[in-house]
Formats: sequence, structure tokens, C-alpha cells
Amino acid sequence: TIYYYNAMDTCLVKRASRILHSEPDVIKGDTLIDTGSGPTIHQLLSTCESFKEIIATVYTYQNLWELEKRLKNEPGGNRYRGAEKEARLRKTVKQVLKCDVHKSNPLDPVVLPPADCLVSSLCLEAACKDLNIYRVALKNISSLLKPEEHLVLSGDLGCSFYIVGPQKFSCLVQRREVLSETGFFIQEPEVLFRDDTIVNDCSDFSGMYFNIAYKEKEM
Ligand SMILES: C[S@@+](CC[C@H](N)C(=O)[O-])C[C@H]1O[C@@H](n2cnc3c(N)ncnc32)[C@H](O)[C@@H]1O
Repeated sequence: TIYYYNAMDTCLVKRASRILHSEPDVIKGDTLIDTGSGPTIHQLLSTCESFKEIIATVYTYQNLWELEKRLKNEPGGNRYRGAEKEARLRKTVKQVLKCDVHKSNPLDPVVLPPADCLVSSLCLEAACKDLNIYRVALKNISSLLKPEEHLVLSGDLGCSFYIVGPQKFSCLVQRREVLSETGFFIQEPEVLFRDDTIVNDCSDFSGMYFNIAYKEKEM
């Protein structure tokens, strides 16, 4: 995991933060939902300045415990650099909910009003085995977002697998056109290729994509 995230680190954290700061009047609002947060907070660090309330969501109970530990800053929770930012984020994350992107309401049984922004980082490609399933999952998470607001979708390029601890996960190679097919207009596509020299067999990803996508219509 450490190698996987170290290799992604430079592009991920810097770019995620640039996205929000390059669009300060656009990407902001009251509520933000992050789908498939996992145990990580890197994808949320830049958002805590721009939203009053962040709702993190996890697929597994293991991730729920890990994330809650980190947000409470309990001993044993993974540490992340940027303590001040993390403290701010802890105050902004008001809830951690269970989430399954394959459900038409991914937060079922919880029903929330649609959010002002949706973040999804490295989640759909991990959760979906093929593009049809990906398309449906994207529609499902889109229901959590208000029309005419933004999805900040990021993930890895050309990645077919990643390894966390003893477990190997498969990963779907993302196709950008799925966004327009599901009612999104990509405003700011960006691709960053790996420039690290870390050689390992934890993942075959070649870079990261970051899309700011505008939700055009209700599906
Ligand atoms: C590579 S991790 C990404 C975690 C985090 N969002 C990030 O950017 O580092 C993939 C995440 O997708 C979650 N996931 C897998 N299947 C899912 C599903 N059906 N619904 C929601 N999340 C799922 C996993 O539990 C895992 O936390």
C-alpha cells in the first residue's frame, strides 16, 4: 500500500488541491459527499476549506473503523502529513456512512438530500468489473449530486490491478466517454503520468486522471 500511494502521492494530493483552488467559485458549497473514501483522507484534504460539511462513505466495516480512527486521531490510526489541515478536515467531516455504488441509492438505507459536490477517487474502477457495471454505478452515485453541480472524479490510468497487504484487487481501465454518456460534461480533464522511479509490483498504473465533470441533467 505504501509503495502504491507513494507513487501516486505527488500527482494525487497536488492535483486534487489544484482542482479546488483553480475553481474557487465553482467547486464550493454546503455539502460534499465522497464515495468510497476507504481508509484514506488525501482526496478530502483540499476540500475542507470549500465546504461546510463533508460526508465520507465507506464500503467495508474495516474501512469504517480505520477512517473513524483517523478522523478521531486515535492512537493506532494512520498518520498523514499536514496536521493543521487534518484537524480542519476532522471538523468538517460530519458523518461517515456505509456506501455501495451498486445500489441505486448508494447510501441505502440512509437518504440524504443531493450534495453540492461529489468526489470519487479510485473507487469506481475498483468496484466495477466491466464498463456496463461502471456506467450503472456512475448513474447511482450521480443521484447523490444536485443537477448543475460538479463531480470531481479521479483515478488511475491503465491500471489492471493493485495490491494492498496480502490481497490483490482487480481494477477496470476507465473510459472518459462514460461520463458524457451518463449526463456529465467534462469541464477540466487532466492526465498526469507517473514521474517516480519506484519500481514495484504493487500496481501497474501509469498515471492518474482527474476530471471535473458538470452534471447536466437528471438521469
Ligand atoms: C483504491 S481504494 C480508493 C480509496 C480512496 N477513495 C482513495 O482515493 O484512496 C478503492 C475503494 O473502493 C471501495 N469499494 C469497493 N467496492 C465498492 C462498492 N461496491 N461501493 C463503494 N465502494 C467500494 C473499496 O472499499 C476501497 O475503499
